[in-house]
Amino acid sequence: MSKPKILVARAVFPEVIARLEQHFDLQTNQNDDSWSKAELAERLSDKDGAFTTGGDRIDAEVLAQCPRLKICANMAVGYNNFDLDAMTAAGVLATNAPDVLTETTADFGFALLMATARRITESEHFLRAGQWTKWSYDMFAGSDIHGATLGILGMGRIGQGIAKRGAHGFGMKVIYHNRSRLDAALEAECKAGYVGKEELLRTADHLVLVLPYSAASHHTIGAAELALMKPTATLINIARGGIVDDAALAAALKTRRIAAAGLDVFEGEPAVHPDLLTVPNVVLTPHIASATVPTRLAMASLAADNLIAFFEGKPPLTPLNQPLQAIK
Ligand code: GLV
Repeated sequence: MSKPKILVARAVFPEVIARLEQHFDLQTNQNDDSWSKAELAERLSDKDGAFTTGGDRIDAEVLAQCPRLKICANMAVGYNNFDLDAMTAAGVLATNAPDVLTETTADFGFALLMATARRITESEHFLRAGQWTKWSYDMFAGSDIHGATLGILGMGRIGQGIAKRGAHGFGMKVIYHNRSRLDAALEAECKAGYVGKEELLRTADHLVLVLPYSAASHHTIGAAELALMKPTATLINIARGGIVDDAALAAALKTRRIAAAGLDVFEGEPAVHPDLLTVPNVVLTPHIASATVPTRLAMASLAADNLIAFFEGKPPLTPLNQPLQAIK
């Protein structure tokens, strides 16, 4: 019996490719070439499955060209690159890579928060530029983490990981807002109190965004929300570009409407709003919150496990939809 044909849309760990090769007839992209949507669709058109990453858009237009496609396994927990309704309608199973990145991503959220509140990159640029000639009492004075109020918008697994780090490690008062309130036991574990969105914005000293992107969460933080925040507040986005209105944020940083921001994700990334590049009070990282070697390997392995399980007729490990698995 011939092996199922799988497209691995981006470069990935050689050991994961070697494992997939044992099960599938693979087309890989180990040069990591950037493909347009049309090029992706063209390469997918004769495939039974795909190993995708967060930048690979799978929607009705692509699916219309892929009559054999049965599964797309995303090497990301976020899946806003998938049009799930279109995939379900086309009978294509979608899987993501949750859990394996939770603690690593929460670590990074905290690292970005600390770098932002304590002005670490701004001060390093100053030092590297040879501008450090003397001590001064307010040189790069930032805001405290310990004892401050940590606000979390989006209280899934990663939000909970950040809450625990803040409450247990740094003695922070943790408040959160989420579509649904956590049960009492989880709230106690995270030492986190539920508040409305407006109270969260008004009260947090540091606000971390960890909510999924969808049309409903587009520009959850814009000029109106920034106007509610404390002028001393920091804003951290490790969720997705588009949740923050980057132009409004750049304006708020420029006028010091809020003190600082730390951003790992951007609207239209890898492009970054030019105004964000000109303000000093922002820490910018290129979407690396899950980027440790063990975690990226675990994410890739989970995507591979989903493909292997599916084609062995077993239940996928982390499904996102339940299409009628018609044999095409
Ligand atoms: C990263 O952003 C992910 O969704 O895994």
